[in-house]
Amino acid sequence: VKRKLSKKDLKNKKVVITAGPTRESLDPVRFLSNYSSGKMGYALAKAASYRGAEVKLISGPSAVEVPLGVELAQIETAEEMKEAVFAEYKNADLVIMAAAVSDYRPQEIMTEKIKKSGENLVLKLERTTDILAELGKNKKSSQLLVGFAAESENLLENAQKKLSKKQADYIIANDISNQSIGFGSDKNQVSILSEESIVKLPTADKEKLAHQILNYILSGQKNQG
Ligand code: CTP
Ligand code: CA
Repeated sequence: VKRKLSKKDLKNKKVVITAGPTRESLDPVRFLSNYSSGKMGYALAKAASYRGAEVKLISGPSAVEVPLGVELAQIETAEEMKEAVFAEYKNADLVIMAAAVSDYRPQEIMTEKIKKSGENLVLKLERTTDILAELGKNKKSSQLLVGFAAESENLLENAQKKLSKKQADYIIANDISNQSIGFGSDKNQVSILSEESIVKLPTADKEKLAHQILNYILSGQKNQG
């Protein structure tokens, strides 16, 4: 039986959502980043705000319009995203990590522009903090923690591993091998994984999908098996 959800089912709830790419500087004129547009995270922020939540959106550079009523914190690096998330998550009821956070950053940021010399250039990179995994370690039982998984192969298997390793309540798995949807697109196709179940949602606009994702995670499917 499908329960009818009230439109304002996030009233008095604090929701923290991350979105977009991060940028890791190499030198004053260059950076490492990825193709994340921010669309999915902004759509989730819009949907959560519409449903009555107090929404804090922590985003890397994105061209998407900030939804009305959503408070935006702009960041660039994975480290800045970590600081912003840690500052907000303690009194959050729901945290959704939709950002494509850089896994590595240059070990050293050159203060002067790197000059070309020789045929090849080797960059030394170091790991960034896995923000979602840190949140998973410190999660209160009243909090819902949702991550994404961008996979180009073995989608469900890899997403399942992320679910348990990062101690998230849900992982939204995203097949990025499908060029027509996902990164940059207005549409997406995702599967929602919890310890108890996997559900594949049909391809849809990211705005519609945002509501479907919220419907699913708020309906407590997790506890119903
Ligand atoms: N994530 C994070 N901090 C990082 C890297 C990723 O919080 N430094 C979050 C993402 O926001 C996403 C989830 O972890 O919600 C999974 O990100 P993804 O890149 O798919 O997985 P990784 O754990 O980084 O593993 P890999 O890139 O090797 O597949
Ligand atoms: Ca990654």
